[in-house]
Amino acid sequence: MEFDQSTNLLAAIVDSSDDAIISKSLQGVITSWNKSAERMFGYAAEEAVGQHITLIIPPERLSEETDILDRLGRGQRVDHFQTVRRRKDGTLLDVSLTISPIRDSSGRIVGASKVARDITGQKRAETALRESEQRFRVITEASPIMVWMAGTDKLCYYFSKGWLDFVGRTLEQEYGNGWAENVHPEDFDRCLKIYESCFDERSPFEMQYRLRHHTGQYRWILDRGVPRYTPDGVFEGYVGGCLDIHDQKEAAEQIHVAENVTRLMKAQDEERRRIARELHDSAGQTLTVLGMGLAQLVHRAETAAPELAREGKKIEAIVQQLHREIRTASYLIHPPLLDESGLASALRLYVEGLAERSEVSVTLDIADNVGRLPEGMELAIFRMVQECLTNIFRHSGSKTAFIRIARQREDVQIEVRDEGKGMSPERIKDILRRGSGVGIRGMQERLRQFHGTMHIESSDSGTTVIASIPVAEDIRFADHQALPAAG
Ligand SMILES: Nc1ncnc2c1ncn2[C@@H]1O[C@H](COP(=O)(O)OP(=O)(O)O)[C@@H](O)[C@H]1O
Ligand SMILES: [Mg+2]
Repeated sequence: MEFDQSTNLLAAIVDSSDDAIISKSLQGVITSWNKSAERMFGYAAEEAVGQHITLIIPPERLSEETDILDRLGRGQRVDHFQTVRRRKDGTLLDVSLTISPIRDSSGRIVGASKVARDITGQKRAETALRESEQRFRVITEASPIMVWMAGTDKLCYYFSKGWLDFVGRTLEQEYGNGWAENVHPEDFDRCLKIYESCFDERSPFEMQYRLRHHTGQYRWILDRGVPRYTPDGVFEGYVGGCLDIHDQKEAAEQIHVAENVTRLMKAQDEERRRIARELHDSAGQTLTVLGMGLAQLVHRAETAAPELAREGKKIEAIVQQLHREIRTASYLIHPPLLDESGLASALRLYVEGLAERSEVSVTLDIADNVGRLPEGMELAIFRMVQECLTNIFRHSGSKTAFIRIARQREDVQIEVRDEGKGMSPERIKDILRRGSGVGIRGMQERLRQFHGTMHIESSDSGTTVIASIPVAEDIRFADHQALPAAG
């Protein structure tokens, strides 16, 4: 009674299992075949029992059975052996087998029980996962985005090839927190704060920092991180994508600097114009009045007190000298003729003044066809020539300077040449890129406003600065009419 009950219970358990449970003799003859075995392999129990187990083994895997029987004979179990079996309809299925020896009451091995689990679904999932990982790798490898992944412990365990190539390091070096060694020390604390607080909140983040390139240069990186979840919503860590934004950032910075320089120069031009006018109109006028008063005084003293008149004449000369100096200062601060008579007159006056004050002999050659140019452009060219001449006095050691301004089709060409000691090509490159003083940089910025270009040719026998500014043909005439030429 008891025996029957437990046998029935066992049979019920065996039948209700999802796994196929089969028993066989040591010769390989099937002795039992449960419901799941019927479902899995397509043979009814009556068809299978009494048949050899090779019924479900594909021909190319027959040798497996010999191995299995061998091990069973030695009393060993076969655990989770993954293989392929065949259904009644000839289709194959992936299975995981666990085979144990069956002993009789005296301990003799009389057969084997075999539990087969259908792992086709699992295999398919594994393949799909492998394929998706493969795809992910191919995509990250091909894209300019550098990808990293971190686990739930905030530590990074994956870096794409792009990242590793960028820093020139191995995955082992970058692993965990290793990657942080290459973050610029000034950016590190800020980024760590963002990373940790967003990570704890599971929120996406975006940050910019400098990362050391394998060349040693720190380059700006834009890094975006988002939390990752399994399909059933379990947090798995973060995945991030980084872009090298160094060049864009630097270009934006350059534009910003250029805009500031332009704004400053405009303000400076305005201020100079104001000071020049103030000097000319206010101090200049006062000196004129003073001069006239003195002249009258001297005239009246000539008969009454000739000695006083002689002293007065000396004072008159000093006042005139002062007047000249103030006018020169005013002209230098802002060339008055520029607005009224144009570039050629203003430059001629300027160069004449220079000849009196310096030992450098300056030759000015302005082609007749230059004419009047837009107001701002004339000032830009005047300032450029002024800066070049100042540089020649200050840096070149040249005793000569040649200025040539001409119009060629749509361009105004400006050339300022000296016969001084010159500059090395590296020095020129450095000055043009970063500028040592504001001089050459300022020229560049002024020219840029008019879409002009500038380059410097230099050797140990002298330097030539050459600039070219596009001018539409009609501008000259339009301005010519708008601004009456000074006589
Ligand atoms: N004509 C020149 N001959 C030799 N060196 C020059 C000449 N013009 C400029 N330089 C060099 O270029 C540098 C930059 O000039 P600039 O930008 O005008 O700044 P600054 O005159 O204030 O030094 C100068 O310091 C000088 O070394
Ligand atoms: Mg200078």
